[in-house]
Amino acid sequence: MLESTNYRPSSQVSQDELPASIRDAGLAHWIREPLDDAVDRRRRVIVPPAAARMGTPLSSYQGALMAESRRPDTVMMMGDNPELPKMPERPVLRDFYERRFGKIAFNHLLQSARLAREHGLGEKVIMACLLHDIAIAGLLSANHGYWAAQMVAPYVDEEVAWAIEKHEALRYFADESVGYTYPQAYIDYFGADYRPPDYISREHEAARRHRWYMTSRLVTINDVYSFDPNVVVDFDEFEDVVGRNFRQPRDGLGFDGSPVAHMWRTMIWPNNFL
Ligand SMILES: [Fe+2]
Ligand SMILES: [Fe+2]
Repeated sequence: MLESTNYRPSSQVSQDELPASIRDAGLAHWIREPLDDAVDRRRRVIVPPAAARMGTPLSSYQGALMAESRRPDTVMMMGDNPELPKMPERPVLRDFYERRFGKIAFNHLLQSARLAREHGLGEKVIMACLLHDIAIAGLLSANHGYWAAQMVAPYVDEEVAWAIEKHEALRYFADESVGYTYPQAYIDYFGADYRPPDYISREHEAARRHRWYMTSRLVTINDVYSFDPNVVVDFDEFEDVVGRNFRQPRDGLGFDGSPVAHMWRTMIWPNNFL
């Protein structure tokens, strides 16, 4: 897989060129100066999206970052960020895994799908495992099951999308009849005293009564809690399942005019100002 997370400090604007407000806040890495002529020689400012900055010190620096765009040699980041691997004109699912998702998410998704396959489960479950956390991998973590389900709904069986959506709530609730216990990882993440909000409890209750309950429950059972960094799973292993269970749009994900195309475009150009 291609690495999409390595910073190349050479593409950062040098510290002394920055206004003190940005330099002192350690925001130098939000401003890129791509030196390759394929882009042009203007600096590009990345303003992190509201969902990433609210409640953090970053929210105070939006103005300073935006003010940078008034410089004649500076524009807001739009289009390809040279820091990220270039995407093909008509991206398919695999391109997002290999060119956008970080190593942890990539391994988590592929190892979960492999586990489902090793357990002899059907292709709907394997596909759901492969996709279940793509929102965390490439878009947004909060409400990740719901985002992921919407992102893939036009391209997968309805049962697969449903299982992905509901896995978020089911993860918080044990089902010992099938050997699923509350994850140690969640105790680590949230503390032993964490109780999910009411809407999650209600989602869980409703999902348990649904005819596809077990499809989603199997996603949680195969949701590997901690990935093994020594196990490298190649996407090749799932090309057959993807071929049969994910309808790749002819014009590419992000460009097929579907109601969710914008979500895929956001992963292609995640730093676009607008
Ligand atoms: Fe998840
Ligand atoms: Fe997961």
